[in-house]
Amino acid sequence: MDTWTIQKLLSWVTKYLADKGVDSPRLSAELLLGHVLSMARIELYAKFNTVVEPGQLDRLHELVKRAGQHEPVAYLAGETEFYSLALKVTPDCMIPRPETELLVQRAVEFLRTRIGKRLVCDLCTGCGCVAVAIARNHPDARIVATDMSEAALAVAAENVAKHQLHNRIDLLCGDLFDPLVLESDTDKFDLIVCNPPYVSADELEALDKNVRDYEPRLALFAGADGLDLYRRIVEKVDQFLKPDAVLMLEIGYSQGPAVRELLDQSGAFAELKIEKDSHNNDRVAIATRASI
Ligand SMILES: C[S@@+](CC[C@H](N)C(=O)[O-])C[C@H]1O[C@@H](n2cnc3c(N)ncnc32)[C@H](O)[C@@H]1O
Repeated sequence: MDTWTIQKLLSWVTKYLADKGVDSPRLSAELLLGHVLSMARIELYAKFNTVVEPGQLDRLHELVKRAGQHEPVAYLAGETEFYSLALKVTPDCMIPRPETELLVQRAVEFLRTRIGKRLVCDLCTGCGCVAVAIARNHPDARIVATDMSEAALAVAAENVAKHQLHNRIDLLCGDLFDPLVLESDTDKFDLIVCNPPYVSADELEALDKNVRDYEPRLALFAGADGLDLYRRIVEKVDQFLKPDAVLMLEIGYSQGPAVRELLDQSGAFAELKIEKDSHNNDRVAIATRASI
């Protein structure tokens, strides 16, 4: 009978997933095998010649089959990596995307230019990836993160605990700014970040099956043109920002001009910038508020 070592399984699963057209087949194979064996990805390489038990092989086989049918690997493995951090994910929250790391990078860079306590708000936090990554990379950031989904916030709470950030991240449930209570101007934010839903009605059909059929609708869709959440954020954001604070929004690749216009028309910002991601697509809108 064949013995299946970790090394042999990684090769076999990678090829199987590649043949089925699954994205990042090697990484996916590592995540699934690591999940079944309760090992970090790096451990798999240290234990290349370990023989995998029949029960574990059966479990892996089932998961690999589902991944081959385009069920998201992050949901099957129950975790993903974002900004080099391991995060729990479930079908209750969107899977963090590498593109969103640009939002975190710009947020951390901005916070480093400020002195003293930095108050940050992360709207639409989902599994908490943006809030957790900012807090882990900026020790003085104190973050309030909100989401409308109780179930997504339960996942965020696990990620906050996993990274021992409960003293610096508060999670609140509600529609956009609704859960925020400002008792005085000192409660206003230095930075508001948000990766809102931004898929338009027309884009629905073009979405990959693993997104359309598995990720929460609440995390994806934002009205006919995909701009509903931006409109609602821009309408209210001014009252939550300090005089020289910044708003950073992740945007869809085609939404740069429309989001720029919305921000411009609000009259609340002195400077607007649309940043491109590593694929040269518009990805983050950065709006600096007018000083008073
Ligand atoms: C695109 S996902 C982003 C999740 C996470 N921040 C990320 O970057 O991966 C959008 C999130 O917004 C939440 N959401 C949708 N509409 C909302 C609203 N009106 N108020 C608050 N949260 C909302 C969804 O539940 C979802 O978790």
